[in-house]
Amino acid sequence: MIKRLGIVGSGIMGSGIAEVAAKAGIDVVLRSRQQETADAMLASLEKSLGKQVEKGKLDEQTAKETLARVTAHHDLHALAECDLVLESVVEDLDVKKDLFSRLSDVCSDSAILATNTSTLPVVELATVVDEPQRVCGIHFFNPAPAMALVEIVRPLTASDETIQAARAFAEDCGKSPVEVKDRAGFIVNALLFPYLNNAVRMLETGTATRDDIDAAMKGGCNFPMGPLELLDLVGLDTSLAILDALYTEFHDPNFAPAPLLRRMVAAQRLGRKTGAGFYDYQR
Ligand SMILES: NC(=O)c1ccc[n+]([C@@H]2O[C@H](COP(=O)([O-])OP(=O)(O)OC[C@H]3O[C@@H](n4cnc5c(N)ncnc54)[C@H](O)[C@@H]3O)[C@@H](O)[C@H]2O)c1
Repeated sequence: MIKRLGIVGSGIMGSGIAEVAAKAGIDVVLRSRQQETADAMLASLEKSLGKQVEKGKLDEQTAKETLARVTAHHDLHALAECDLVLESVVEDLDVKKDLFSRLSDVCSDSAILATNTSTLPVVELATVVDEPQRVCGIHFFNPAPAMALVEIVRPLTASDETIQAARAFAEDCGKSPVEVKDRAGFIVNALLFPYLNNAVRMLETGTATRDDIDAAMKGGCNFPMGPLELLDLVGLDTSLAILDALYTEFHDPNFAPAPLLRRMVAAQRLGRKTGAGFYDYQR
């Protein structure tokens, strides 16, 4: 059973997963490259729990206990005692490989090392650690506190024990896990991203306006969000990295990123996290 979870990366997903696990009674050790960002993540968790108390969704005692389970650090060695370390840093294979190789040195031989990658080959992370059978993907969805699904990704190298422990961890977090082989995009993103990418192409070719594309998919398919709103939520840089990884693996033209998406990332219009994407957001 996972009693102490390490999380590396203090972005959208790292902070969401920390909240989910701490609420489930698991001790959480957050690690960010700078102590200020680690502390800021803790402060934003406190704020989020406070809001839930105000709205009557959480009682004050549970919020206090949840927060007390989380500590924030910049030193990677703080993860040494964790049973499971889940990395959620930028979607970049070289960055993740470097991190896994350092985690392998810092963590105990019995710890599971997992990645929250959306598309990258998990097996490549397994090859840089001492115990490759202990590496798998544990892919949460955004926003982690609200989304029920977790994809458990099984690379060729993973042991059955690792996959079972990952599945049990997801269930302990109150999530519904599914298992999938280590192929780019796993289940959800392999099916979702051609649709999102084609929405950008449709906007780019002037077939319809931004608002009409989103309204059409909400009204016509009963989707809770339109594709352009969803891309802003995911982050356009992460979305571009996902499409690039899918295209590299399958060479399917539907995965070739729409030029507009690449230009928007170059302009640092990354969606909600930067305050501007297909829509503008008040920060
Ligand atoms: N955004 C989503 O909808 C979503 C959903 C599921 C999974 N994911 C995956 O989760 C991971 C993180 O995504 P996110 O949306 O939280 O991204 P984000 O941009 O919000 O956060 C990325 C984090 O990575 C850190 N980082 C950036 N460069 C780094 C480097 N060179 N070394 C170490 N850390 C670095 C940043 O400081 C930040 O803490 C990615 O692998 C992504 O594919 C994202």
